[in-house]
Amino acid sequence: MTGTSGAPRVLYAATECAPWVKTGGLGDVVGTLPEAIRAAGVDLRVLLPAYPALRVAIRGRRLATFEGAVLSETTLPSGVPVLLLEASALFDRDGGPYQDRQGRDWPDNAERFSLFARAAAWIAGEETSLGWRPQLLHCNDWQTALAPAYLRFMHGSDAVSLMTVHNLAFQGLFSRDAFQSLQLPEAAYAIEGIEFYGKVSFLKAGLYYADAISTVSPTYAREIQRAPMGFGLEGLLAKRHDVLHGILNGIDVRLWDPARDPLIAAPYDCDQLETKARNKRALQEFLGLYPDPHVPLFGTVSRLTHQKGIDLLLSVGERLVSLPGELALLGQGDKDLEEATLAFAQKHRGSAATIIGFDEGLAHLIEAGADIFLMPSRFEPCGLNQMYSQRYGTPPVAHATGGLIDTIADFDPRGGRTDGSGFMFAEPTPASFFSAIERAVAAYRDTVTWRQLQKNGMHADFSWDASARHHAALYRSLIDGRERSQQPPT
Ligand code: ADP
Ligand code: GLC
Repeated sequence: MTGTSGAPRVLYAATECAPWVKTGGLGDVVGTLPEAIRAAGVDLRVLLPAYPALRVAIRGRRLATFEGAVLSETTLPSGVPVLLLEASALFDRDGGPYQDRQGRDWPDNAERFSLFARAAAWIAGEETSLGWRPQLLHCNDWQTALAPAYLRFMHGSDAVSLMTVHNLAFQGLFSRDAFQSLQLPEAAYAIEGIEFYGKVSFLKAGLYYADAISTVSPTYAREIQRAPMGFGLEGLLAKRHDVLHGILNGIDVRLWDPARDPLIAAPYDCDQLETKARNKRALQEFLGLYPDPHVPLFGTVSRLTHQKGIDLLLSVGERLVSLPGELALLGQGDKDLEEATLAFAQKHRGSAATIIGFDEGLAHLIEAGADIFLMPSRFEPCGLNQMYSQRYGTPPVAHATGGLIDTIADFDPRGGRTDGSGFMFAEPTPASFFSAIERAVAAYRDTVTWRQLQKNGMHADFSWDASARHHAALYRSLIDGRERSQQPPT
């Protein structure tokens, strides 16, 4: 069963998939990376919960039942095979995948995602009626992270597992009481296991029991081995550094292509950058901003949370509009940040606009219509918006952290250098952030320099190719058993 001749068989378990179910970058990744990995020669199939949006979009053929849930088989429009786990009491409900419409976590999340993880482990751990048994189970984030523990304790299987961390800040923490319902042996509730300061940590289970771990950029892979970026799991991650891989995300370069984007006002490429101005004008009109073609227009599309440094953005807001500058902000998240960003826009009507909500079309128009993209994230495992913005000729100003370091080349004109595609700042403070904004505006005022910067970003390769090749090689090496020596004892 473990032979590696032919294409490796991989089950890719995830709980979001763009365009149907997306709360952030995970959805984008799951919507595109599997296709690229398959193109790199892997027999990969995706396992998803059958949320209403997915059930309606892609009808499956029933194949098996598991703990009362139905597994059906279907394909994405891209041709990627999908297994859908239908458990109507758990996944067929209005609201988001993890929260209700009011932003409260579903109270039965432990039950929902432990069932999902058990199903993933079952498919990889036994000969099932599916007629296809993966050699490797690839898990994504805490929602799937119990699966490596189930593989180990329930199946004693020879399938290997890879745990990918998209954001260590989300760990799937539940009370000690939740442990009873997880169907794991008491021995698993231990420091050397899934216990975390008196609670159950789904993510820790994955980090502990998986054969290998990956995260979404090389810099973040280093950062999470130390406090504070390790969020309490830095010791475990440092101990497992031999099997911890930083594989940089890519983006969907077909969906995010300014030359072919139906969601923007006027398509353009790097030889027609003047056309970009029509998108700026459309964005200004749509948001009720002054239609000044010369004032730098700053854009942000973000979850409104502490991670994303929205408070830093508000701290420099007054100075930004008095440059003069304009601000277009799209986001949703913490209520206090939603209120504060709305109040800021209200105060600076004509110069600043805030749209609260999740709006794919406006996200594309901001990437195309803004001059400069702002990303003051305190930490950023990878980040996708800075790649979208570079591809749209909208250089980012970003905090030098995580994947932002790995995807943005800081522009430094000293010595006549012409490389660089954005502006990085070292400290997550208003002063450091604003000095990078000033550097960006100085470059923006010099048309020749600015065109060079735009082109540098537009020419960068952000496709999934390198990531897909890296994943395929890692899968092969894990299946071959080359990376299994570090597995912790049971
Ligand atoms: P994260 O996953 O941490 O939120 P990423 O930069 O990896 O950050 O991915 C965020 C994704 O979600 C991007 O595709 C971005 O355009 C999208 N996004 C975030 N907020 C919104 C919003 N309010 N409306 C539309 N798209 C959004
Ligand atoms: C997470 C991270 C983000 C990353 C995304 C996709 O949501 O916060 O930085 O780009 O996952 O991997």
